[in-house]
Amino acid sequence: MTNKYMYFIANWKMYGGLKSLNSLDKVNKFFKRFKMNKFIKIVYCPPNTLLYSMALKLKKSKIEVGAQNCHENKDYGAFTGSVNPIMLKNVGAKYVIIGHSENRKIGENNKIINLKIKNALKSGLKVIFCIGETLQDKRKKITKKVLNNQIEFGLKKVNNKKNIIIAYEPVWSIGTGLILKSKDLSETVNFIKKKTKNLKILYGGSVNPKNIHEFTSVSNIDGFLIGGASQDPNKFIDIIKKTFN
Ligand code: PGA
Repeated sequence: MTNKYMYFIANWKMYGGLKSLNSLDKVNKFFKRFKMNKFIKIVYCPPNTLLYSMALKLKKSKIEVGAQNCHENKDYGAFTGSVNPIMLKNVGAKYVIIGHSENRKIGENNKIINLKIKNALKSGLKVIFCIGETLQDKRKKITKKVLNNQIEFGLKKVNNKKNIIIAYEPVWSIGTGLILKSKDLSETVNFIKKKTKNLKILYGGSVNPKNIHEFTSVSNIDGFLIGGASQDPNKFIDIIKKTFN
C-alpha cells in the first residue's frame, strides 16, 4: 500500500499498430475513475509510428505520451532514419526514454547518451534515463561501479536535472521474468538516490501483476517502467491497482 506519487511508464518497444491504440480506452476509463489517480502519472511510450495518433487520442486525458529514443542532434539534418527530440515534441511527446539497455547493446555509448539527454532537455522533453548492470557485472559484483559510471557520464554537465527521472533496469531482469530481492533493490535505489541528489527512481525489468507486490514493499521507489506487461491493458491496470492496495 502506498500513497505517494507514482509513475507508470509503458514501454511498448517495437510492438503495436493503429489497432493497439484501442487498448488505451480501457486504461483511460480506469484512470479517470481510480480513486488514487491524483497520485499517479501514466506515460505511454509507443513506437514513433504511433506517437502522433496516440497523442491525439489522449488529448483530453491526463495520460501523457513519450518516445522510446531520439537522435543526439537537436537540429534538423541529413540523418536518414532518425528523429530528433524537437520532432518528437512536435507530434505530442512530453517524455523520451534515453539509454535503454536494448540501445546500449547496439552501440549507444555514454557519450551519445549524454548528448541525447542534453538535447532532449533543451528541446523541452522530460527524460527517462535508463541505467542498469548486466548479469556479468552482477556476478563480478561491480553493479554500483557500473551504475556510478552510467550516471556520471550520462549526466555530465547536465546542470538542471529537474526534468530527469532515472529508470533503474537491471539488464538481466528485462524480459526474463527474473527480479531482484526487495532488500537488494531498496539498497540499490538508495545508492542511486544519493548519487543523483534525490532524483525520482523508477524500477524496470519484468514487472507484472504477479510480482508487483515484491516491489511495492520497496518504499523508496517512485514508480515503474513496464515493458511486456504494458501492452495488455488489463495487466497494466492490475499493476497500478495492486501498487495502491
Ligand atoms: P520488461 O521491459 O517489463 O518487458 O522486462 C522493461 C523495459 O525494457 O523497459
